[in-house]
Amino acid sequence: MTYARIAGVGSCLPEKVLTNKDLEGMMDTSDEWIRERTGMKRRHVAGEGETTGSMSLIAAQRALEMAGMAADELDMIVVGTCTPDKIIPATATIVQRELGIKGCPALDVNAACSGFLYGLDYANRYFLTGGAKKALVIGAETLTRIVNWEDRTTAVLFGDGAGAVVLEVSDEPGILATHIHANGEFEELLHTTGGISRGFDASCDRDGFVRMEGNAVFKRAVATFDSIARETVADLDGHLDDIDWFIPHQANMRIIKAAAKKLSMPMERVISTVDEHANTSAASIPLALDLAVREGRIKRGDTLLMAAFGAGFTWGSAMLKF
Ligand code: UT7
Repeated sequence: MTYARIAGVGSCLPEKVLTNKDLEGMMDTSDEWIRERTGMKRRHVAGEGETTGSMSLIAAQRALEMAGMAADELDMIVVGTCTPDKIIPATATIVQRELGIKGCPALDVNAACSGFLYGLDYANRYFLTGGAKKALVIGAETLTRIVNWEDRTTAVLFGDGAGAVVLEVSDEPGILATHIHANGEFEELLHTTGGISRGFDASCDRDGFVRMEGNAVFKRAVATFDSIARETVADLDGHLDDIDWFIPHQANMRIIKAAAKKLSMPMERVISTVDEHANTSAASIPLALDLAVREGRIKRGDTLLMAAFGAGFTWGSAMLKF
């Protein structure tokens, strides 16, 4: 059997950091509220000139270095993002050019916070059908560019960053299962009112800022982890103990704890970065993965479960042997 196996991981975080205390000086909020409701303490914010593409490139170079792979060996580049550098071309093609390569397909996937898992699922299917032997999958965002800094209900929640994995074909188990889903019924619970074809016009409520009905999204996110847990139990024939590490999307510590409970995962086996990174959307899972690998917590042979939920709604999971 052929598998796509992670050969290298990498990430990039902007240097600039905004703490909850900093936010207190910018809007009517408090460190206490943010910590209690979200678990967040600080977030990285892209500086001038720093983009989804520039952070993706650094994360990709670090992942390629760990894999011991040259960029021109890649058969595919996928970037999960809802904050691309430009409308066209895809950020993935910008990353490709900056890596100094050409020819292999390069595309962006917009599935909001589930973007990295959608990208992983997409790339994995190429491996399973023999269409790719080496691939770069990135999750990267600059969400702070589309938050309204006057809206305390969203501005405190997001951060920027990028994470990348290099996949390589292997006879050894790698990606074991992926599941991705969507339901467009709840579009307006988490969205931007303006857009390319709808147009942007702040005067008639079509701006480009993220808007979220936080509490309604919260309840949906927690409920969705029920179905993710059910799919995982089915994949494992009920042997949830086989999972060494759970890496959830980092939207809110309370959601992470609820999800871990549904999977009977003790918090010691949950990778959480929400305190340091806040919600980095599609970047949050590969960022957390890279951190845990470089800290030596996740080791070769460990079984990982990744799960995400985001705007759309979209959601999904991936189980793999690292
Ligand atoms: O990544 C994609 C998916 N995203 C998520 O999964 C995020 C899901 N939602 C959440 O994480 C939470 O719903 C939030 C953290 C956004 C909000 O927490 P909550 O416990 O659901 O609070 P709430 O929205 O019910 O608001 C409670 C109160 C409100 O005041 P009143 O109406 O009770 O007087 C808000 O106005 O907290 C107020 N509030 C704030 N207060 C201080 C909202 N934002 C802030 C703030 N600082 N930044």
